[in-house]
Amino acid sequence: MTDQSAKFTLGSTNADLALRSGTIGPDVVDVTSLYKQSGVFTYDPGFSSTASCESKITYIDGDEGMLLHRGYPIDQLAERGDYLETCYLLLYGELPTAREKEDFVYRVTRHTMVHEQMSRFYTGFRRDAHPMAVMVGSVGALSAFYHDSTDIADPHQRMVASLRMVAKMPTIAAMAYKYHIGQPFVYPRNDLSYAENFLHMCFAVPCEPYRIDPVLARAMDRIFILHADHEQNASTSTVRLAGSSGANPFACVAAGIACLWGPAHGGANEAALNMLTEIGSKDRIPEFIARAKDKNDPFRLMGFGHRVYKNYDPRAKIMQKTCHEVLDELGIKDDPLLEVAMELEHIALNDEYFIEKKLYPNVDFYSGITLKALGFPTAMFTVLFAVARTVGWIAQWKEMIEDPHQRIGRPRQLYTGAPLRDYVPVDERS
Ligand code: CMC
Repeated sequence: MTDQSAKFTLGSTNADLALRSGTIGPDVVDVTSLYKQSGVFTYDPGFSSTASCESKITYIDGDEGMLLHRGYPIDQLAERGDYLETCYLLLYGELPTAREKEDFVYRVTRHTMVHEQMSRFYTGFRRDAHPMAVMVGSVGALSAFYHDSTDIADPHQRMVASLRMVAKMPTIAAMAYKYHIGQPFVYPRNDLSYAENFLHMCFAVPCEPYRIDPVLARAMDRIFILHADHEQNASTSTVRLAGSSGANPFACVAAGIACLWGPAHGGANEAALNMLTEIGSKDRIPEFIARAKDKNDPFRLMGFGHRVYKNYDPRAKIMQKTCHEVLDELGIKDDPLLEVAMELEHIALNDEYFIEKKLYPNVDFYSGITLKALGFPTAMFTVLFAVARTVGWIAQWKEMIEDPHQRIGRPRQLYTGAPLRDYVPVDERS
């Protein structure tokens, strides 16, 4: 808190609002007493100028293209660390020592299996259901399977629920995939790393051995790191809002998954790849660029632009490199989709419209291409995002529950509906 304050004047009413400073980033005007002092609310749909909470987890500077987790730059974590280490960092606030890491990996690994009854739960879904629909349902159902970790007032149960969620999410996602394609579920293997185990559960079949390619496993791990947390985005805010009422963490994460599904958020990597398929060949790119610029056409270049980054998304740079590593490893050179993607990237980065509006390729642009090369169908892309983001949702949920100032989230509104009027009996209505 600084000793400065912001003055608010409305006619003859004055309000003194505290100015608060974070470690880095712009100061915020604390408007919690504004209504009490002045009788007016603030209006900010989309939260363009509103900090919804205080947090110590992630910092983004969109103009600089900077993303820090607990102070560490994302590129250092992605290039030198691994996903479970990043999970530890997000959950506990510090990078683990070698012993702490060993213990954490052991604890997560011991929770990878899901209750056997869960496998029957899947069969209630249609095989052609979108895997995200299955994820919303099956993650929501976890609270029906793990009653012993839903008491949010108990710190031990909170941590058990957190570890369960990080550990089981790959298993649940892989089961959603296997069910979707009609193959038998593959049980987790605890001798494998987090990313290796996920690839194994998705791509192994009982009738032949599955060799895990270390380059692909590393790429999978990077995708998980790059999507682990991203401050107060829509799905994280959804998890916090759901959790603010005291709902259990499994239910809150299910709410986050529902929000993530949308094409403006986590669904963008799927939408980006669908768009590349629709464009089909390089010669059709100008037509789509023209549509993206046309104010009367709702079409947008999926995988471009970001609410916060008005510079290159730092995750996109790492993802671009990882994407090329995967394509080289798999010997994919003449993929027409990739050709369209590279040309689109080149044109958009040099086009006045995109430069002026600061619309850069975002992480979803490259992750979609990488995931396709790894062998995932587009319908699974957002599911993988959900697996990675689970730790961020859980870390943010825990932080909120452990905040002594936490209150139920209850936004107000600007009402523009009908004014007060009297009920009219049906036979008197015109
Ligand atoms: N293609 C063409 N024009 C665009 C695009 C785009 N992808 N994105 C924004 N614009 C234009 C928009 O039409 C507007 O123009 P004008 O000022 O003339 O009205 C201007 O840029 C600002 O757009 P905005 O809608 O005010 O920006 P926003 O911050 O509300 O939207 C966004 C951010 C990510 C929803 C948007 O850029 C978008 O829809 N992108 C495509 C979907 C996408 O890739 N989403 C993934 C985001 S990253 C992953 C995640 O965080 O989940």
